[in-house]
Amino acid sequence: MESAVPAAGFLYWVGAGTVAFVGLRILCWLFTVLRVWGLGSEDRVGPSLGEWAVVTGSTDGIGKAYAEELAKCGMKVVLISRSQDKLNQVSSEIREKFKVETRTIAADFGSVDIYDTIKRGLEGLEIGILVNNVGTSYEYPESFLNVSDLDNTIKKLINVNIVSVCKMTRLVLPGMEERSKGVILNISSISGMYPVPLLALYSASKAFVDYFSQCLHEEYKSKGIFVQSVLPYLVATKLAKIRKATLDKPSSETFVKSALKTVGLQSRTNGYVIHFLLASIMSLLPSWICLKIMMTITKSIQACYLKKNKKN
Ligand SMILES: NC(=O)c1ccc[n+]([C@@H]2O[C@H](COP(=O)([O-])OP(=O)(O)OC[C@H]3O[C@@H](n4cnc5c(N)ncnc54)[C@H](OP(=O)(O)O)[C@@H]3O)[C@@H](O)[C@H]2O)c1
Ligand SMILES: *[C@@H]1O[C@H](CO)[C@@H](O)[C@H](O)[C@H]1NC(C)=O
Ligand SMILES: *[C@@H]1O[C@H](CO)[C@@H](O)[C@H](O)[C@H]1NC(C)=O
Repeated sequence: MESAVPAAGFLYWVGAGTVAFVGLRILCWLFTVLRVWGLGSEDRVGPSLGEWAVVTGSTDGIGKAYAEELAKCGMKVVLISRSQDKLNQVSSEIREKFKVETRTIAADFGSVDIYDTIKRGLEGLEIGILVNNVGTSYEYPESFLNVSDLDNTIKKLINVNIVSVCKMTRLVLPGMEERSKGVILNISSISGMYPVPLLALYSASKAFVDYFSQCLHEEYKSKGIFVQSVLPYLVATKLAKIRKATLDKPSSETFVKSALKTVGLQSRTNGYVIHFLLASIMSLLPSWICLKIMMTITKSIQACYLKKNKKN
């Protein structure tokens, strides 16, 4: 009986310690949310960083929303995507709506011989913000060897998701270093934080973007350059094949408004409070459970896709 008393005392302190630890974690979490999204503003982005913003993959989805939001802050924008028709349309929309100068460069990031053209297009511009947004994924989640046209997919996905980020940064960073200011936003994904089975190439390419951004932020922050890795969960766009925005799958406009508040405050961000909550919960789980959850999600997306395409 006597020996049970110290054991009970010990357990009491373990329990109290655990409750205190969890409470502290939750408080820290709430503090971050308040500091970034509650009190944060978009004031840290604007023409004071440099006249121009460059956005890759900017005629649709998240990229278009970044281009519009930055134009709204008074920045001139360079739009880079494949289709000149879409570029012309978005560029005249932005010019009319926000009264800022625009430029367009038609380039396919699936190939690697475009960077001289882009370099010429950017010559002489004072670039304050680069948004490395362009990204591509498979038609639907699939195991590696069963991805259709695999060799071509490997080449394209790596060019669009990885090479573009390195090369665009290569072009834009020297000017920023010279002026000792600038912001580079690399759009990664939550699938770069957690491995997502059935999207192996996509998930790994986004992890590259996340690591690259974190390293560069550390290398260049003393030079006044802020590099941010943006890790969204699902955003209602064509790429995600989601039409209707919901609270957990916001429209690209809602997402970008929220993500711009984090610039200068978080070098690595989920961009949107609900996505931050999801990622925080995931971070508490052991990695084998995360893998299982991700596999369950992608499997159901795959089943949906295959069922739909059989009917047609
Ligand atoms: N949507 C999501 O749920 C989600 C989640 C996490 C991360 N992300 C990331 O966010 C980024 C943007 O995704 P999104 O959903 O906004 O995509 P989206 O709606 O499909 O828009 C893609 C944009 O990129 C352009 N583009 C596509 N392929 C291109 C290429 N090879 N060369 C040049 N431009 C190209 C498209 O214009 P053209 O067709 O004219 O070229 C379009 O403007 C991606 O990096 C994606 O990985 C998205
Ligand atoms: C690839 O597809 C084949 C044929 O549909 C299937 O039998 C096989 O199990 C698939 N491989 C994986 C790893 O899912
Ligand atoms: C991310 O941002 C940094 C900022 O300098 C940039 O150098 C890098 O190329 C970008 N791309 C990736 C893959 O992180």
